[in-house]
Amino acid sequence: MCSVKMQMKGKSSIYRLSAILASSIVLLWTPLQAQNIFMPENPLEGRIVFEQKGCITCHAIKGEGGDVGPDLGDRKFYGSFLELASIMWNHLPSMLGQMRELELPFPEFSKTEMVELTAYLYYLRYLGDPGNLYRGKVLAKEKKCLNCHAIAGKGGKIGPPFDKLAKYISPLYLAQALWNHGPSMEKKLKEMGLERPVFKRGEIVDLSAYIRAAGKGGKRQRVYMSPGNPQNGAKVFREKGCFDCHSVNGEGADIGPDLSEAEWGYSITEIAGLMWNHGAAMASTMNEKSIKWPKFTGGEMADVIAYIYFLQFKDPPGSAEAGRNLFTEKGCAQCHGTDARGGEIGPDLSESTALLSAFNMVQIMWNHAPVMEERISEKTLEWPEFTGQQMRDLYAFLYSLQEHKSDN
Ligand code: HEC
Ligand code: HEC
Ligand code: HEC
Ligand code: HEC
Repeated sequence: MCSVKMQMKGKSSIYRLSAILASSIVLLWTPLQAQNIFMPENPLEGRIVFEQKGCITCHAIKGEGGDVGPDLGDRKFYGSFLELASIMWNHLPSMLGQMRELELPFPEFSKTEMVELTAYLYYLRYLGDPGNLYRGKVLAKEKKCLNCHAIAGKGGKIGPPFDKLAKYISPLYLAQALWNHGPSMEKKLKEMGLERPVFKRGEIVDLSAYIRAAGKGGKRQRVYMSPGNPQNGAKVFREKGCFDCHSVNGEGADIGPDLSEAEWGYSITEIAGLMWNHGAAMASTMNEKSIKWPKFTGGEMADVIAYIYFLQFKDPPGSAEAGRNLFTEKGCAQCHGTDARGGEIGPDLSESTALLSAFNMVQIMWNHAPVMEERISEKTLEWPEFTGQQMRDLYAFLYSLQEHKSDN
């Protein structure tokens, strides 16, 4: 818990600076699938938007900020972009109500801001994993780590002592060290007739919390790991030969699973656990194909995992037909006409130049929420809530109105 806070406090000025210096975002547009792939350079950049737009007035992140709304650092938002967008959308009426009371201005968003903010909320899960050191202590025994490794002078002498790992704040350091030594550790395990340890959800974080607390020397010096750079992770993924076995968005081999198709809802450290667990299967395939075991240095593992994590930010395609129905059910048609080709109040959406991405749709819907809300309260209608899937369908429908444009 405290380590997470320390990281935020100590680094926030650096995040801010790097955000100003290098606010580069990759938005790849693939018209055929109508999908956006988004890989930020620093997922924490959206923190600035969170503050600028006044979200922090009502919401704290891990105890820092207002308390009108819930602390968003405690929440688990695994969802894709549109799932997160639907949560934000559904809370607009209570947010607008509170804002009037507090006399706050309505925060409009540019597309970049909307994407950065959502990516930040998506990434909070990573920061929100303090780990449980008591569970970690039990795990270190149960998994027989201490048969071979010592901590604070107690334990085995076959592997290196854990103490020097204590200064690393991020559990991904432990994951990376473990990964790099995987093959030689496995040899020893076999010799000693021990089984290769596997990790369930959360266990790497717990072990890491234990090592941080119990390891000698860790408190004097703390080493922070970068939060993970998904853009760089894409490069590392390629350089380390992951494409030799995995595909992502149609590129690569199919020996391992397609990592862009997984819908795991796993956190960063859980993905690290998954990689380790599959390490044995990976290693034997790699031996057969004589591929060298890929080692990671510096922040490379954090980056590649952040990359895999962000593959799940992308939404699967929705149904345009379902979206057409929703457009009427949710009252959009009242202003925009049943086929979205223009009504008495709202413009013809097939003429819109802004609907070529889901990011745009959400940004526009958000910005015109106050107009909608007024109209809805005049007519005493209910606020149209959306699930993530409904947002996908709505987008598929609005996008289908645009299709004639990509032809020319
Ligand atoms: C004026 C106060 C206020 C502001 C400003 C505000 N919110 Fe909220 N927010 C709330 C309240 C109250 C709730 C809980 C009620 C609800 O979900 O409708 C909430 C709920 C949420 C939730 C859902 C949390 C959950 O676990 O269900 C999210 C996500 C969220 N807000 C994001 C944001 C973001 C992002 C911003 C900035 C653009 C923002 N909020 C600005 C008051 C506010
Ligand atoms: C059978 C003995 C054995 C067991 C059991 C074992 N390890 Fe290891 N471990 C080793 C050996 C040997 C190495 C060093 C390998 C090398 O030098 O490449 C190592 C290396 C490591 C490293 C890298 C250390 C560094 O300083 O870079 C980590 C991290 C690690 N082990 C974690 C664990 C954890 C966590 C467990 C329990 C889940 C565990 N080990 C269980 C033998 C073992
Ligand atoms: C030699 C082939 C091979 C290479 C190279 C390889 N993998 Fe794998 N990977 C596999 C196989 C096979 C599985 C599935 C194993 C299983 O199901 O037990 C897998 C599983 C995974 C999983 C778990 C997926 C899931 O759905 O559970 C992740 C994450 C992963 N690999 C990441 C990587 C990364 C990152 C790299 C590059 C550093 C990489 N892999 C390189 C073969 C490989
Ligand atoms: C109260 C009437 C009203 C309702 C209800 C309404 N809109 Fe709008 N919409 C407007 C008006 C007016 C504009 C143009 C001015 C603006 O953006 O605020 C607009 C603009 C838009 C645009 C932007 C078009 C462009 O190119 O800029 C989109 C997209 C959109 N609406 C989608 C929706 C969706 C989806 C719904 C249902 C959830 C909806 N609207 C409900 C009145 C409405």
